[in-house]
Amino acid sequence: MKFFIDTANLAQIKEAYDLGILDGVTTNPSLMAKEGISGHDNVINHYKAICEIVDGDVSAEVISTTFDEMVAEGEALAKLHEKIVVKVPMIKDGVKAIRYFTDQGIRTNCTLVFSAGQALLAAKAGATYVSPFIGRLDDVSTDGMQLIEDIRLIYDNYGYETQILAASVRHAMHIVNCAKVGADVITGPLSAITALLKHPLTDNGLAQFLADHAKAEQAAKV
Ligand code: E4P
Repeated sequence: MKFFIDTANLAQIKEAYDLGILDGVTTNPSLMAKEGISGHDNVINHYKAICEIVDGDVSAEVISTTFDEMVAEGEALAKLHEKIVVKVPMIKDGVKAIRYFTDQGIRTNCTLVFSAGQALLAAKAGATYVSPFIGRLDDVSTDGMQLIEDIRLIYDNYGYETQILAASVRHAMHIVNCAKVGADVITGPLSAITALLKHPLTDNGLAQFLADHAKAEQAAKV
């Protein structure tokens, strides 16, 4: 399973990359705004800066919502760097744009997916990635993980190559459960990824090992 980080924060992207486990980055307009990135040139430069840090795909989302505008915006984004994947919302013109980009050899990430039907359409249009938002579904008492399982079944039934990119991941158990049900990729905050590291028995065990080692060293000296 691939690990993407869901942020536009360069320090966090670098920290995840330095850990040696990062396969890519997803951003969205809210994440860019959170970092105070605004204005055409700043946005473009920020995407380029992200591409310089990571080895892997970097999703850059279009702001437009009509076919012609999405095509123009997506083509410009795709030209920025070979790592850029054009992120397109699951709306009617978005599906058309994904088909267009696919035919042009431009990779896409279909975002804001909340149902199996939407995921089926994204695959039919040839999306490289589909992004079901599991955390936001859980937020409204709907089982986000069930959606990942349903999409896995549908894609496997027909051999669709669209990769299931579980998005809106909020915590470590989302990641573990995504791995169990066969998501191809997860994208989440650094905190969810590093939470996978933690177990109190690891900390206690290490403390004991180090204490025993220190005691043995001390005993050897006397
Ligand atoms: C997906 O690519 C989105 O950027 C993201 O995962 C949304 O997550 P959120 O629901 O935590 O905002």
